[in-house]
Amino acid sequence: MKSVLDFAAARQAGRKIVMTTCYDAWTARLLQGTGIDCVLVGDSGVMVMHGAHDTVAATVDMMAAMTRAVRLGGPELFVVADLPFLSYRGSLDRALDSVRPLMVAGAQAVKLEGARGHLPLVEQLVSSGIPVMGHLGLTPQSVHALGGYRVQGRSEAAAEALLQDARDLQEAGCFALVLECVPSALARRVTEQLAIPTIGIGAGDGTDGQVLVLHDLLGAAPASAHQPRFVRRYADVAGTLQSAVNQFAEEVRSGAFPSAAESYA
Ligand code: KIV
Repeated sequence: MKSVLDFAAARQAGRKIVMTTCYDAWTARLLQGTGIDCVLVGDSGVMVMHGAHDTVAATVDMMAAMTRAVRLGGPELFVVADLPFLSYRGSLDRALDSVRPLMVAGAQAVKLEGARGHLPLVEQLVSSGIPVMGHLGLTPQSVHALGGYRVQGRSEAAAEALLQDARDLQEAGCFALVLECVPSALARRVTEQLAIPTIGIGAGDGTDGQVLVLHDLLGAAPASAHQPRFVRRYADVAGTLQSAVNQFAEEVRSGAFPSAAESYA
């Protein structure tokens, strides 16, 4: 995708939007040669790359550093950056101070979680020329309030509240909406009721697109690690990495590496 306008065009054309996370320049360089539409510099990066237990640990500085690296590695990528935990609460001025470093670092849009209390900010950002992606359902920054990583919107009341939040975010000016861990039927209902595209993760096949954490789809976590049921492993990067490094270690110890051709005369 070249611009934010391509999201609406994809929905109109019935073409599924494909997004993965990306946190560094090396990966951005590789993703640029693939068929994905856009990347999310997700706050999940603090878990995947920095070992944090949840996304509450993310800061604006970390998000800006990851966004800058992704922009440098993938100048052609459409980059959405996550606003981290609490950085967009408090006051409009404080929220704008959090958004600025992400845009300066090279994001073309920001994503924020939830709707309640954020609508004036979304309006302010959109009218300041900053595209905003919404995120409803399981909002990981609220993991402590939600009591864990659980499917959201199961009761009719919760589903109605989510539908209302989705309509509110659209009304405030969001150009797209991530729906995480909600029943497929609810994600389909939201998608039918909105004019903006929905991008699902653990939300079934009725959304306008799909997003996965790149390391999950690559099988980069050890096979023993817990994977949510919505993750499909398309590769075994963990296995490939470990066997390559083990082979390197063996060859160093056996003297097979380096050869004469890999050495300077
Ligand atoms: O940070 C992230 O990886 C996300 C996706 C799960 C959508 O927000």
